[in-house]
Amino acid sequence: MAAENRVTERGSAIRLTVVGAGVMGVSIAALGVSRGLRVTLVDKDPAKVETAAGRVAQEIRLAKLMGAVARDAALGELTVTSSLGDGVPADAVVEAVVEIPEEKNRVLKEISGAVGPSVPLISNTSSIPVDELAADVPHPEAVLGIHFMNPAYLIPTVEMIPGSRTSEEARAGATSLLAALGRKGVVVGDGPGFVTSRVSHRMINDAIKVVEEGRASAEDVDLLMQNCLGHTTGPLRTADLIGLDNLADSLAVLFERTGDESFRPAELLLRKVADGDHGRKSGRGFYTY
Ligand SMILES: NC(=O)c1ccc[n+]([C@@H]2O[C@H](COP(=O)([O-])OP(=O)(O)OC[C@H]3O[C@@H](n4cnc5c(N)ncnc54)[C@H](O)[C@@H]3O)[C@@H](O)[C@H]2O)c1
Repeated sequence: MAAENRVTERGSAIRLTVVGAGVMGVSIAALGVSRGLRVTLVDKDPAKVETAAGRVAQEIRLAKLMGAVARDAALGELTVTSSLGDGVPADAVVEAVVEIPEEKNRVLKEISGAVGPSVPLISNTSSIPVDELAADVPHPEAVLGIHFMNPAYLIPTVEMIPGSRTSEEARAGATSLLAALGRKGVVVGDGPGFVTSRVSHRMINDAIKVVEEGRASAEDVDLLMQNCLGHTTGPLRTADLIGLDNLADSLAVLFERTGDESFRPAELLLRKVADGDHGRKSGRGFYTY
């Protein structure tokens, strides 16, 4: 059966495997479960596996509270595991592991070999070009990027990035998955940071440099960006929400691939990451939670 048909089947027939149970993997899994999908969430870290079901349930609770999911929505199923094999077979796979190219390449290679060429293999990368991710996998034609935003249950629009080798079948399968998840994909060209990270990460990095120089506090930078320029949360609260470790990794990817100094991660950011202050997920970043 073609991938398109499989992922357009209604309700729990859709099997979505999400690899990486961090900030985004949990968020994407929660979106899938809240839309009736059968989700298998995989992480190599036993501590993440142990807490993932609770974190998914909490995201669904928040989604209901915020009206993003109907209170009586028929939920799908969630399986959490440390074994990628438990996520096969699948109708679609979303890779959401750390933004470190070598780690992503290793994981994508393994999944691609396990699920075969007809299952869309979607990377949630923020900044690594899709062609680079597809270069070393057994089935490059199945690979594409979908940049779900954080939190995935709340933000209805995603960036969709086909690579130069992505097949029509993979594109169609990914489009069907987005329809099942109630997300709208905006197709953009491949390249470091695509559109959103290329634009927003430079701005967030600059906002951190302003704080580092002592020109304004994090609170005042966010206040000005929110009240004068209409930014929803302010760049430093956004940095904390993203996760400062992930932000630093994404900036490093952007800097290495563009040579653009504005992407060189701010010293203050690197210091916070080294101190274990990773933002919301660790309880402290530019703010305390
Ligand atoms: N945080 C955001 O706001 C955001 C938004 C959009 C996209 N992204 C992208 O989503 C991806 C995940 O980001 P995150 O913020 O969730 O990171 P995170 O650090 O919170 O979580 C990453 C998870 O991947 C797991 N992992 C690492 N290697 C693995 C492997 N080999 N097999 C299985 N699990 C593995 C880690 O244990 C961890 O739980 C990154 O590519 C990131 O750039 C992040």
